[in-house]
Amino acid sequence: MRKKLLLGNWKMNKTPSEAKEFASSCEEMVKKAIDNNVDVGVAPTFVCLCPVVKYAPKGLIVSAQNCSQYDHGAYTGEVSIPMLKEVGVTYCIIGHSERREYDAETSEKCNAKIKALLAAEITPVYCCGESLATYEEGKTNEWVAEQIKAGMKDLTPEQAAKVVIAYEPIWAIGTGKSATKETAEETIGFIRKTLEGMFGAVAQDIRILYGGSVKPENIHDYMSMEDIDGALVGGASLKLDSYKALIDNLIG
Ligand code: 13P
Repeated sequence: MRKKLLLGNWKMNKTPSEAKEFASSCEEMVKKAIDNNVDVGVAPTFVCLCPVVKYAPKGLIVSAQNCSQYDHGAYTGEVSIPMLKEVGVTYCIIGHSERREYDAETSEKCNAKIKALLAAEITPVYCCGESLATYEEGKTNEWVAEQIKAGMKDLTPEQAAKVVIAYEPIWAIGTGKSATKETAEETIGFIRKTLEGMFGAVAQDIRILYGGSVKPENIHDYMSMEDIDGALVGGASLKLDSYKALIDNLIG
């Protein structure tokens, strides 16, 4: 039985004091999620990781939004996995479409990062998803299969089982135009089949999230689908009230 996961991707929002405010006020909601067997977490910017780890209640997962594939060295502006580990980060988003678009992140680079994260026992949350043009051409499956095959290349089934996949159609991110639950389920089911082709039966244990304009009003619909194991949420995860409503409606 795959455990549900709700992860808030804060993107480039919140100053350290705002992040601290959220972390120190979310105890009740984190407890509610845990009591209902749901993993719950946030992914703040690098500079907000320390305050969030320090002030978060027990059980709140703290995720980074990116990492370097290298341990140390002359990589100006980068943050390494040992640094994240020491700070107390336990998850890391990899290959978000915004990084693929603005920072030329390739699936091959994501593959190196995923392997390095697994070696450090940090859970990678590997993002995939197609553009509106690809969706309209009916080539979603081909596109995501390519991203999954390249990003998850050469992992053992045991390693693959530890990765979380997030399917985020680019046309649904921040647009308010979410994929229908049927469309999301269809693609996520296809991703699971692709993983089964690569890793066998262990694909049934891999958690696959949906992301793209998830809100308190629609999260329950997604969670009612067989293959959808949680959500990666941007805008609706920023305010405590909205995050609380996401948990309430995910559970209820
Ligand atoms: P929104 O929930 O704001 O559409 O963002 C989705 C996303 O990109 C999460 O990683």
